[in-house]
Amino acid sequence: MLQVRDLAMRFGTRLVQQGVSFSVEPGRIFAIMGGSGCGKSTLLKHLIGLLVPAAGTVRYDEVDYWQADEATQRQVRAGFGVLFQSAALWSSMSVLDNVLLPMQQQARWTPAEQRERALEVLSWVGLADFADYAPADLSGGMKKRAGLARAVATEPRVLFLDEPSAGLDPISSRRLDDLILAIRERTGAAVLVVSHELPSLFAIADDGIFLDADSKRPVGQGGPRALLEQSTHPTVQAFLNRTALQDATS
Ligand SMILES: Nc1ncnc2c1ncn2[C@@H]1O[C@H](COP(=O)(O)OP(=O)(O)O)[C@@H](O)[C@H]1O
Ligand SMILES: [Mg+2]
Repeated sequence: MLQVRDLAMRFGTRLVQQGVSFSVEPGRIFAIMGGSGCGKSTLLKHLIGLLVPAAGTVRYDEVDYWQADEATQRQVRAGFGVLFQSAALWSSMSVLDNVLLPMQQQARWTPAEQRERALEVLSWVGLADFADYAPADLSGGMKKRAGLARAVATEPRVLFLDEPSAGLDPISSRRLDDLILAIRERTGAAVLVVSHELPSLFAIADDGIFLDADSKRPVGQGGPRALLEQSTHPTVQAFLNRTALQDATS
């Protein structure tokens, strides 16, 4: 479904990453791993059409995104669901209106269908009774779940989640992981998740890529467990081995 080939990303003359290649199939959860500042969020922005690659290709099925015309790009983007790092709910709108918003931007549903769908996805994330709440009256975990409901409302084929469990307590974080797994099951979407929450990565990711800030290249390819067992790269080991430590002490 998604195929990235030899992607290079720059801000001006400053290289962030190069030689990034991977593909993600429907129904798979793909982790973008690496330390702070290595370019994980920047990579997501290149994948959702917000930043133009310095080199390389991003393909969605048969569409080479950056070679496609604007109408085709828009059509591809209509298949995306995005949960930004901050959850970024509109504070002046109810939870329900937040979830309705991306559906209203696409002409695929009648207002009645939008409402029905919004209430359905809110029930998936356990917020059916909070539809009329203001975001400010939700806990951090509930905000993330509302953001996730909004991201999946448009029935995305590809779901992008930037640090979905950052800042959550372990129980909320687990609950969000379970939801991500359930949503993958229900929708068959390809899921790309940026995270350095290791328990979460180990719980949900099938596959992934590890970006290295020093060499500005990927230094590992595979799921977190496979990388932990097979990678000899010191940065990869330093990153993933903290989990073994956490498991041992929990
Ligand atoms: N808009 C921007 N302009 C210039 N540099 C940026 C911009 N956004 C991020 N960067 C830089 O690019 C690098 C990668 O950032 P980012 O993708 O946010 O890292 P990560 O998400 O892995 O923590 C960092 O060095 C960051 O300072
Ligand atoms: Mg980031």
